Amino acid sequence: MELKKWWHNAIGYQIYPKSFQDTNGDGIGDIQGIIQHLDDLKELGVNIIWVSPINESPMMDHGYDISDYYKIDPSFGSNEDLEVLIKEADKRGIKILMDLVINHTSDQHEWFQKAIQNLDSKYANYYIIREGDENGNPPNNWRSIFGGSAWGKIEGTNKYYLHLFTVGQPDLNWENPELREKLYEMVNYWLDKGLGGFRIDAISHIKKDWTYENLPPDGPDGLVTAWKYYRNAEGIEELLHELNESTFKKYDSFTIGEIDAETPEQIEQFIGENGCFSTYFDFFHNKYCIRYEQYAKDPIEMVEEIKKELFARQELIKKSGGLLTNFLENHDKPRAPERFIPKKFINFYSQSLLGTIYFFLRGIPVIYQGQEIGMTDFPKESIDGYIDLATHNNYKELLEKGMSEEDALRLINIDCRENSRTPMQWDDSENGGFTDGEPWFAVNPNYKTLNYKNQKEDPESLLNYYKKLGALRKQEDFESTFIYGETIQLYSEIKGCLAYQRRLNDKVITMIANWTPNVMEIPMDKPINELLLNNYKTLHVDQESMVFQPFQVIVFQ
Ligand code: GLC
Ligand code: CA
Repeated sequence: MELKKWWHNAIGYQIYPKSFQDTNGDGIGDIQGIIQHLDDLKELGVNIIWVSPINESPMMDHGYDISDYYKIDPSFGSNEDLEVLIKEADKRGIKILMDLVINHTSDQHEWFQKAIQNLDSKYANYYIIREGDENGNPPNNWRSIFGGSAWGKIEGTNKYYLHLFTVGQPDLNWENPELREKLYEMVNYWLDKGLGGFRIDAISHIKKDWTYENLPPDGPDGLVTAWKYYRNAEGIEELLHELNESTFKKYDSFTIGEIDAETPEQIEQFIGENGCFSTYFDFFHNKYCIRYEQYAKDPIEMVEEIKKELFARQELIKKSGGLLTNFLENHDKPRAPERFIPKKFINFYSQSLLGTIYFFLRGIPVIYQGQEIGMTDFPKESIDGYIDLATHNNYKELLEKGMSEEDALRLINIDCRENSRTPMQWDDSENGGFTDGEPWFAVNPNYKTLNYKNQKEDPESLLNYYKKLGALRKQEDFESTFIYGETIQLYSEIKGCLAYQRRLNDKVITMIANWTPNVMEIPMDKPINELLLNNYKTLHVDQESMVFQPFQVIVFQ
């Protein structure tokens, strides 16, 4: 099949390397562990792997705080290991994406260390450093995205540096051309190694509105979350454009921006013909969780809201001619079934339903490690069970708002991003086969039954269902319809039914999902020529209607 761009047929897989596979017994996943599983990923139909950051880092934010862009962190292996990974992946038709974290560095980065040692040095201008007010308070009352003030004090001075994320992640000053040049050089250094491209971290924050007045606080901490001053701020497109021209474009690489567009103009800027990225994540569903009070009472209402938004996004993107990246899970969110399915109904049927719904939409599907076997959250009995700083900050904020420890922990257990960071469950041996040593983060005890090996051997497993999803998307007859076809919503009026057609010329593929725990009757609009997928063994059909079982999903032509 002829692709308009080499990556249009991508099926992506995200690896959170710390938790994927340890091979040397130090309890931390490593690059050799990824190499070990390349064949598994190939079987899943994956041809792009995004690896969360592996550069040298003090790990205050598990690698999203880089102290040396040119060096692989020794806990993950060596620079040579990465080159082997790229080569071994290539042999299997898989391209590797690194995570590009260039909104900020670690406070241990040489540039930052030089900056604070000598505030008159050129390195001070690599970061955003401002004078505190006359009382020694921070320059303004912005809140960090991870909680607390967004300003860190530079010891022995009345100066502060901006950190939109943790205090160990000072933001870079993108207004400084010299700094930008340094970053581009580094990006090209890695692209020269044969990478497929990058997932680009927090890139919507590189431009700041430079008016640092205090704003009316929005919480008892006196601080304010001031998105419009540091997310997609005016003028960001110039910076993105230059980044692309100086790096990605020269290599025809594949890039996924961690950025969100609301308008057709933004979509055009970000991923249009001359856009800065190949694609970006469609985050629209991030705000939904069945365990939030507003949805718990009526989960089907949540499905209805999701339907509306999902098809509006498909429509919006169609006009641009581009492709979004579709996903259910990542390392920043709890596991998807926990967010979208009432607990007592989390099972093979509902999990395969979620997978099917997003896999055949227009866009690039990405699977997050463990999603393909249906890994679940592992709530903690104490806040000490979590390591993530952002999580601890959130917990503190809840207590400050007057919540009891018990209630705060309950909310954290629902929302915490570390839920999806528990080690991968490969088999039923100790620690789920993740490590021979002491795992850096506790393995979910359900690994005894819920693991990769069990599912590999069971033809009816979720893992094998995911393989079918991959195979169907890549099937020659259908591939161009899935990539370039239109998306047309069906049965919008039936509550809890999410259905669409993908259409290209005279090829029509239909997906119908009963996203409810009830039996659902659906009128038969179009006869089934060939059933391509069904998560149940049977489907009840008569001339006028089809009867769907709870969480049944089918794909047919
Ligand atoms: C992105 C990453 C997240 C990280 C943050 C700061 O949102 O996905 O894990 O903590 O950026 O780098
Ligand atoms: Ca290791």
